[in-house]
Amino acid sequence: MMNWESIYANAKEWVIEAGDRIRSSFDKTLNIQTKSNPNDLVTNMDKEIEQFFIAKIKEVYPEDKIMGEEGFGDKLTSLEGIVWIIDPIDGTMNFIHQQRNFAISLGVYENGVGKIGIIYDVVHDELYHAFSGKGAYLNENPIPRLEETTVQESIIALNATWVMENRRIDHNLMIPLVRAARGTRSYGTAALEMVFVATGRVDSYISMRLSPWDYAAGVVIIEELGGIVTNLRGEKLDFLTQDSLFAAKPGLHQTILKEYLKDGRW
Ligand code: IPD
Ligand code: CA
Ligand code: CA
Repeated sequence: MMNWESIYANAKEWVIEAGDRIRSSFDKTLNIQTKSNPNDLVTNMDKEIEQFFIAKIKEVYPEDKIMGEEGFGDKLTSLEGIVWIIDPIDGTMNFIHQQRNFAISLGVYENGVGKIGIIYDVVHDELYHAFSGKGAYLNENPIPRLEETTVQESIIALNATWVMENRRIDHNLMIPLVRAARGTRSYGTAALEMVFVATGRVDSYISMRLSPWDYAAGVVIIEELGGIVTNLRGEKLDFLTQDSLFAAKPGLHQTILKEYLKDGRW
C-alpha cells in the first residue's frame, strides 16, 4: 500500500528546503546560460534544485519516475506508475531579473492521475498545496472552492506574445475575449498564474504553449477547488507533451470555450 500521507509530507518538506536554498542564493552570483534561444534562460540554481529533488526522491522512492525540466530526471514515454513532475524554478527570467515572481512547482501523479500538487512562492513564503480529495491549502489555510463568474467580471492572465504573428495560431482570435474581459494580467510564471486562478486573484489563465512541468502541480490544485484545466481546444492535457493551456473557474471555462475559442485552430 502506498503511503500517500508520507509522500505528501516529504514532498512539502523538500520543497521548503529547496526554497531555503534558492533564498540563500540571492546574494551569490548566478551562472546564467541560454537554452533554445537567447531568451530561454537557465541558471545554476535551476539545475541544482532539480538535482536536489532527484537525489531526495531517488533515496526514499527509488522505484518512482521523475520528469524534470532541466533533464536530470528520466526520459518518459508513459505516465505509468508514480511520476514526479518538477519545475525547479518556474519563471527563471523573473528569478534572474527581479528576484521575485517565480516558484517551485512539483506534481506527483499515479498512472497519469494527479495526486499531489505543490507550488511554492519562495519570496512570499507562500506554499500552495493540494492532495487530491483532501482539499487545497495556502500554507495552513484551506483555499475556498471556486465559484462561477462571467467573462465581463473576470481578469484573465495571458501573455503578451499573443499580439505577435504566429504561424500555428491566429492571434486575432484572442481579441474579442480580451475586449470582453474586465482586465488582463501577465506575470511570467505559469505556476503562480495557476495558483492565482486557484485563489481567485485571476479568473482564468491562458497560455499558447506550456510543458508538463509548468502545469502538473497547478492542475491538481485548481481541480481540487472545482476549477477546470484543459488545452485551448477543451481537451484533457496528456502530461507528456507541450500543449496550449486554459485554466478557469467552473462556468467561465465553458463560456469562454463556447463563445470565444470555438473557431481557433489551437
Ligand atoms: C516559463 C514560465 C512562463 C511561460 C513559459 C514557461 P520557465 O517557465 O512559466 O510564464 O510563459 O512558457 O516556459 O522556463 O521559467 O520554467
Ligand atoms: Ca516553467
Ligand atoms: Ca523552469
